[in-house]
Amino acid sequence: MVSTISQPETRPMTEEGDFLQLKGIDYVHFWVGNAKQAMYFWWKGFGFKPVAYSGLETGNRQFASYVLESGQIRFVVSAPYGPSSEISAHHLVHGDGVKEIALAVDDLAKAYAEVVARGATVAWAPREEIDEFGELRTFAIRAYGEVLHVFVDRSAYGGPFAPSYQPLDLPYESAGLSAIDHIVGNVQLGKMNHWVNFYHQVMGFRQLIHFDDQDISTEYSALMSKVMQNGSGRIKFPINEPAEGLRKSQIEEFLDYYLTPGVQHIAMATGDIIQTVQTLKERGIEFLRVPGQYYEALGDRVGEIREPLEAIKELGILVDRDDEGYLLQIFSRPIQDRPTSFIEVIQRRGSRGFGKGNFKALFEALEAEQKRRGNL
Ligand code: FE2
Repeated sequence: MVSTISQPETRPMTEEGDFLQLKGIDYVHFWVGNAKQAMYFWWKGFGFKPVAYSGLETGNRQFASYVLESGQIRFVVSAPYGPSSEISAHHLVHGDGVKEIALAVDDLAKAYAEVVARGATVAWAPREEIDEFGELRTFAIRAYGEVLHVFVDRSAYGGPFAPSYQPLDLPYESAGLSAIDHIVGNVQLGKMNHWVNFYHQVMGFRQLIHFDDQDISTEYSALMSKVMQNGSGRIKFPINEPAEGLRKSQIEEFLDYYLTPGVQHIAMATGDIIQTVQTLKERGIEFLRVPGQYYEALGDRVGEIREPLEAIKELGILVDRDDEGYLLQIFSRPIQDRPTSFIEVIQRRGSRGFGKGNFKALFEALEAEQKRRGNL
């Protein structure tokens, strides 16, 4: 797919170099077994607002689909009506998971020409879907595993999401989740640099950070990660691969259950992590817990922070500091039965990092969970 391999650069891109001019993540599309129940999870659990529905009642005889929003985040959950749907085939192999990460653009034709010239594998060529709300223009290319990047131009479309979708208006209570901070992909051993080069060469992303197995290892298992970022800095896609360790890496556990590379976690930003995590916990969302000694050393490690340490500890929130500031983060348990995708909630107070100082405590907590599942 990509013929020339070069080292990604970290310098900021010029306007000219940012050839895709991505405006942001338009939506994340989960293909699931039961869209009605998945919708309920994001709605009642994570405080998303249901905004659109497509299904038998709207003339869609292939699949049922709900669109939900929280701040700038848009999630779509879709499930098949029968075994001939490609969603069925996907679900049989992978269980619930992310199929599409859609990216908003103004100039679809230019974006298509750029990615094709740079060696992208096209899933569908530019097409227009038309209904009474206008014309929605999209094309899609293949990323790691079965994941697609759908490019979306909404400039001529005024509907609630896409043709066949009708608006929903249901009461909801926000948990304060405002934007997607980053989306992490897990790929196979030895494939991280391939996908780093894909994001660099085909999509114009630059490498922001590299974590090697020295940074991300515990007594038992290890992984490596490189963070790719688009020209505007708005879109961040870390790519993980397993590294050799004494026991099975958490990335290998993901690959064993998802069966291909795929989306490991979606980090969602909040302006008030204490309020958000309190709300999510009250609604039954489960989070990983690091050992208690993490909090004994926390004050010395991160210095003064604005949030009360008691609440941080009580909720199990993690804190990390770097030159630019600090961040607060917490990780959910898997959001489906298979130990595959999970959610991160993050609040940044100046730091643009990913919580490197938390890796060890966090991965030990993850391994404890792996062990309980009989997968370490
Ligand atoms: Fe993350």
